[in-house]
This record gives sequence, C-alpha cells and structure tokens, in this order.
Amino acid sequence: SIKILAISGSLRKSSTNTGLLLACTSIANENITFTIYDGLGNLPHFNPDFDDENAPDSVYDFRMKLKEADGVLICTPEYANGVPGVLKNALDWVVSSGEFMYKPTAVISASPSQFGGDKAHDSLILTLSIMTAKIVEGGTLKIPFVTKKVKPQGELTDSATAHSLRSLIDALTQTIHSS
Ligand code: FNR
Repeated sequence: SIKILAISGSLRKSSTNTGLLLACTSIANENITFTIYDGLGNLPHFNPDFDDENAPDSVYDFRMKLKEADGVLICTPEYANGVPGVLKNALDWVVSSGEFMYKPTAVISASPSQFGGDKAHDSLILTLSIMTAKIVEGGTLKIPFVTKKVKPQGELTDSATAHSLRSLIDALTQTIHSS
C-alpha cells in the first residue's frame, strides 16, 4: 500500500486545513495509508548549527517520517500573505537533509477568503521547488470560502470540494506509481 504523510500548516484545534486532511483520509481508498503528522508544533526553531547528526530527536523523527512516505500532502492556511511560520520552519529543517528531493508532493491552501490562500500557496510551491520536491501535476488546489466547505472534524459540506480532493489524491497516487 501507498504511504502518504499529510501535514497541516495550522496548529489550531479546529483548523479547517486539518479538517481537509481528515476528509482526504476518509476519501482515499484502502490502498492508501494516510498519516497526519502531528509534530509540527514541537519542532525547535531551525538553527543551522544543529542541522547535522546532532539534530534534535523531533527533527530526526520528522525526517524519518518524510523518508518513509511515498508522497506528501500539505494543506496550509495563509498568514499575512505568507506561509505560516511553523510550516516554513519545518521545511527549513529538511533543506539540507534532502527528504523532499523528488518526493511526490501535493499542495492545498485553504482560506475563509475568496482567494484561497493563493499567496501562501505560490510561496510554498516556490520553496518546495527549490528543494526539488516533485510537485504533482493536478495535485495543487486553492480552496476559497473554506468554512462553507468543511467542518474541522473532516466532514465535507460541499460536493465540488469532495470531487476536487478526490482528483488531487488520484493525481498524487498516479505520480507515486509512475515514479
Ligand atoms: C489570517 N488569515 C488570513 N487569511 C488569508 O486568506 N490571508 C491572510 O493573509 C491571512 N492572514 C492571517 C493572519 C493571522 C495572524 C491569522 C490568525 C489569520 C485567516 C486564516 O485564513 C483563517 O484564520 C483560517 O481559518 C486559518 O486556517 P485554519 O486554522 O482554519 O486551518
């Protein structure tokens, strides 16, 4: 079976972004094992001085989870037109260690606004691209008006969103199979 590591850019308990990842977990067929990474908030601030074999355990754990995953699905909000600090911090820990290299990666941004977190979305893809992640074709999605579409527990309230998520997961799994 395929292993997908899902990362939410929001630490908030009632996060709509985490809700979308939970929805993906129930949409995906039984050949896919989704793991929602829950350690984002426990990673220390990135410091190149510790970016070696002395990396903290939490960083080691994050790197192992990425390494073991066949693909990654990130779903993030936008803060002040950018990628949330916790998510960028996590990515900075894996620039040199290279776990994202050629890793099939799908990117969702979601926002209550009409723009769907487009600035964070584009910025995140720019960052992942320089890390040579394999951004999945058909595997990127901006979800505006997100509060009308999903409940934090992962219940979708909009059939078009369900359809979009299903095709994004299909694109991700196809890329994994062909890489
Ligand atoms: C936001 N929000 C926001 N939304 C947006 O579309 N563009 C933005 O630049 C910002 N900036 C911003 C800054 C800060 C500090 C906060 C707290 C919020 C609103 C944001 O999209 C909203 O809170 C989402 O619900 C956050 O996602 P989760 O936590 O529901 O996943």
